[in-house]
Parts: sequence; C-alpha cells; structure tokens
Amino acid sequence: MQARVALVTGGTGGIGTSIVKRLAGMGHKVATNFRDEARGRAWHQGMKDAGFDIAMAAGDVSSPEQAAALVQEVERQLGPVEILVNNAGITRDSTFHKMSAQQWNEVICTNLNSCFNVTRPVIEGMRQRKWGRIVQISSINGQKGQYGQANYAAAKAGMHGFTISLAQENARFGITVNTVSPGYIGTDMVMAVPEEVREKIIAQIPTGRLGTPEEIAYAVGFFIPDEAGWITGANLSANGGQYMGW
Ligand code: CAA
Repeated sequence: MQARVALVTGGTGGIGTSIVKRLAGMGHKVATNFRDEARGRAWHQGMKDAGFDIAMAAGDVSSPEQAAALVQEVERQLGPVEILVNNAGITRDSTFHKMSAQQWNEVICTNLNSCFNVTRPVIEGMRQRKWGRIVQISSINGQKGQYGQANYAAAKAGMHGFTISLAQENARFGITVNTVSPGYIGTDMVMAVPEEVREKIIAQIPTGRLGTPEEIAYAVGFFIPDEAGWITGANLSANGGQYMGW
C-alpha cells in the first residue's frame, strides 16, 4: 500500500494511541496533536521508545484557529494530509436537568465542532489530489443515547450526520468519509464511570467484556486501503454486540 500522510486528532489518548500505532504499522506517516506540552512530550518519548516516529503539533481542536495552525504544522513536517481521523473527544457527564452551559459547550466544541475545524483545512487539498480518507470516531451512545450524556450523544450523533453529508459531496473526488462507533472500551474515559454503573454496562454487552483500543484501531484501518474505496458514508459499529442497529 502506498505510504500516506495521516493526522489522528487526540492521538495521545486511549483509543487514539492505538489508531496512531495501527496506521503507522500500515506504513503511513502519522501525526497527532497535543494540548498539554509536558503530556505530549512524554507520550512522544514513549512512542519513540516503542519504535514509532510520530509527528507532533500543538493545538486544541475545539479552536478553529488552533486547528488550522496544527494542520499547517503537520503539513510542514510531513506534507499534505491524506488521511484524517477525527478522534479527539471528551465527556462531561451529567443528567440534563443538572447540566451547565459549560458542560454542554465543551463537549459540543471538542467532539463535534472539531470535525469542522480540522476537516475544513484539509478537504480542498484532498479534492484537488482526488484521494482522501476521513474517519470520525463517534460512539454507541450517539446511536442509542445514554442516561447522563445528552451533550455527548448529541455531538456523537452529529458526527455521523457530518459523515454522510461529506461522503455525498466528496465521493466523486476519490474521498471516502466514514464513521466508527465504538462501544465501551477499557480506556481512562470509561474507567472514570462509577464502578457500579460500569458493572451494569458490562452486563449489557453480549461479549461480556469491555472492548480494547486495538479493536477500534482495526475498524479504522479497514476504511483506509484503496480496496475500501467503494465504502463511504458507512457507520461501523464495534461494540461487542451491545447495540445492533442497522
Ligand atoms: N437508567 C435509569 N436510571 C439511571 C441510569 C440509567 N442508565 N443511570 C442512573 N440512573 C438513576 C440512578 O439510579 C438514580 O436514581 P435514584 O435517584 O432513584 O436513586 C438517578 O438516576 C441519579 O440521577 P442524578 O440526576 O442524581 O444523577 P447523578 O448526579 O447521580 O449522576 C450520571 C448520574 C452522571 C448519569 C452517572 O450515573 C454516570 O456517570 N453515568 C455513566 C454515564 C455513562 O455511561 N457515560 C459514558 C462514559 S464513557 C463514554 O462516553 C465512551 C463511549 O463513547 C461509550
């Protein structure tokens, strides 16, 4: 497979790290962003020690200006972005009747507005070069809803609306746009859910366990090769059977 330039947002996180490793393992040149310099540096060193040479750029994807600057920096280091994985995401869980405007806005800006902020600076180049891969990391909770996550579920469902519109607009330019909807994965984000709530969630998963970040990275990797060029606008559930929508 031809080596491509890939940008994975939020690549220093639980699922993000596995996606970065998977794409690098497929032979692509991979970059990610960091918000916290010290954390970014430590992550970068850890990846280096593990044999991965990953490009890094500072920037918070919830800010349009910072997102544009980080894309520019990645392109300066590696060349035009050909694969984009919109993975960065946060939770601010609260039942809606207790939710603050800040909890709403932080989740919408980081999880959904970031898709605009990062995709907008790369889409024209992909259209000109007539090849591109864009993958949104949504969530099972954007498909089925979740008690305590009106903000997160709205953002994650919105990401798939973004996917299916962008897929239509860009199909004839050799660009595919797809969504992966992970279920509950054993990352810090899920481990922050109160233990008794988490146990109840695991009891609802037919496989009887949380997923692994590697299982999500595998699903992302599926959309990248040239052979996947006819698959666009899809939403691939990877959730251990917890939600079997179609
Ligand atoms: N269904 C029905 N009732 C529920 C419920 C559910 N799923 N979850 C909580 N409740 C009930 C409680 O039993 C409790 O009832 P009582 O008052 O009768 O005892 C009541 O709701 C509590 O409501 P409060 O408004 O007081 O809520 P709280 O302040 O205690 O916090 C919560 C509730 C924030 C939702 C907390 O339960 C929580 O964090 N839940 C986990 C939410 C979750 O799954 N987040 C996913 C994070 S991981 C992720 O997002 C990754 C991904 O993509 C999958």
